[in-house]
Amino acid sequence: MTVAIPARPEGFTPVPSAQQTTTVSAGPAGESAAVAYLVTADTPLPEGLGVDRDALTAAGLTEDAGSTVVVPRAGAAAIVVELGKEAEVTVDGLRNAAAAAVRAVAKVASSVGILVPEVPVDPTDAAAAVTEGALLGRYRYTALKSEAKEKPLESLAVEIAGADAEEVAAGIGSGVVTARAAAIARDLANTPPGHLSAVDLADVTAQLAGEYGFESVAFGKDELIEMGCGGILGVNAGSAFEPRLIKLHYAPDGEAAGHLGLVGKGIMYDSGGISLKPSNPLHLLMKMDMGGAAAIVGTFAALRDAGVDTEVTAWLCCTDNMPSGSATKLGDVLTARNGMTVEVKNTDAEGRLVMMDGLSLAVEEGVDAVIDIATLTGASIVALGTRRAALFGTDRVLLDTLAASSEAVDEPVWEMPLEASYRKELDSQIADISNMGGQWAGATAAALFLKEFTGDTPWAHVDIAGPMSSDADDAWRSAGATGFGARLLLHAAADFAGGE
Ligand code: BES
Ligand code: MN
Ligand code: MN
Repeated sequence: MTVAIPARPEGFTPVPSAQQTTTVSAGPAGESAAVAYLVTADTPLPEGLGVDRDALTAAGLTEDAGSTVVVPRAGAAAIVVELGKEAEVTVDGLRNAAAAAVRAVAKVASSVGILVPEVPVDPTDAAAAVTEGALLGRYRYTALKSEAKEKPLESLAVEIAGADAEEVAAGIGSGVVTARAAAIARDLANTPPGHLSAVDLADVTAQLAGEYGFESVAFGKDELIEMGCGGILGVNAGSAFEPRLIKLHYAPDGEAAGHLGLVGKGIMYDSGGISLKPSNPLHLLMKMDMGGAAAIVGTFAALRDAGVDTEVTAWLCCTDNMPSGSATKLGDVLTARNGMTVEVKNTDAEGRLVMMDGLSLAVEEGVDAVIDIATLTGASIVALGTRRAALFGTDRVLLDTLAASSEAVDEPVWEMPLEASYRKELDSQIADISNMGGQWAGATAAALFLKEFTGDTPWAHVDIAGPMSSDADDAWRSAGATGFGARLLLHAAADFAGGE
């Protein structure tokens, strides 16, 4: 059967951010088309600004962190962003202020300088956060717009009062790499499903692998049959497109500090399958149901340049989930890679079906620990909203590493209990387990299902159904896919096995 593929603009790439280059330099901020002054509420304003507090207050600046005004003046426009009280300024506050600053002039300035006052944050960390915030704040997915309304950020100058250039340069270097991780994840999740099939994703990761120093191997339908990956195949059964299991591998230069496994949900589009989803706004988000896989690809695009010394192997479980004459039916039984049989009681609970194969493979590989990341359940959104991911797991050290990384990169998570007494709700009369739990605690039920495939390997599960996307520009998040998870996993990989 030949399948029509939508026309794509010439030169279309699902990862425009891999080509986009913002030149970031360690000051001077004053030579850019717009100059952002990050100010504290209780210390004098910088001299070059040319207006006093009263004038700023009259223009609408408040003492709340993030409050922003643009001051017109001869030459370069001035942007003022409030940081709040000096003693309370944090890395997160700087990241968000930088995002607000560049956004304020998105329509007019393609070069922005950001001037950071002396604050109680290490200058390298401050430069990293400002760089990251500016690059992510100015992110826009414009690949399919004939004309973009905003200017791309061509150059960014970061100046930190009282810091030496080397410290600032080091921070910039790291901010560029972490922002790239998130931007690539956003690109992939923002790409429409007709422009990014599982096969396309495998092609893109192979291309990124060459560029960013990792390996990528993809397994197609026949290989998946041989490998016994009944979950991925079962979800793919209704699709006109082939599935791909994409295996990524990163080896550090020297001796590795442990071997971390990552497993990502890569549902290129989730229609629900035979258990068809209603046409509501959430359904419209289902092109992003590969947000977990996208986050992992983003992480891999940064591991080498971030100097991570952990070996990392990932399994991305990729297919769309479609209804058709050949689709998996309710009551069908699938056999996972590890031999377990699963009764499909709802084809919309497909994420756990593809992930069961990925987790089985990670355990077989003998990784020291495995983290999976998935846009898994609407129930996690009900519990925690769109700002925070649900975290589950079996290993205290791994969970603590993730919680600490989450704090460091401002990708918030909340640990939820793996309530063992709910496990029986996943029982099946005819198979080893079913893919549906009871009426309540849907995020926990999904996590308990995944746990069955993790054996004795320390495991953590991050459900990013909520924070994968944002309705509006909001601090470092830009409207659309947020890339949530890419920076979290990068940080966790760097910290794995006490790497820091
Ligand atoms: N991909 C969805 C979960 C989701 C919903 C992600 C909204 C992001 C936004 C997942 O495959 C799904 O459909 N889950 C079902 C599971 C249920 C049928 C047990 C859900 O959460 O309703
Ligand atoms: Mn689903
Ligand atoms: Mn899904």
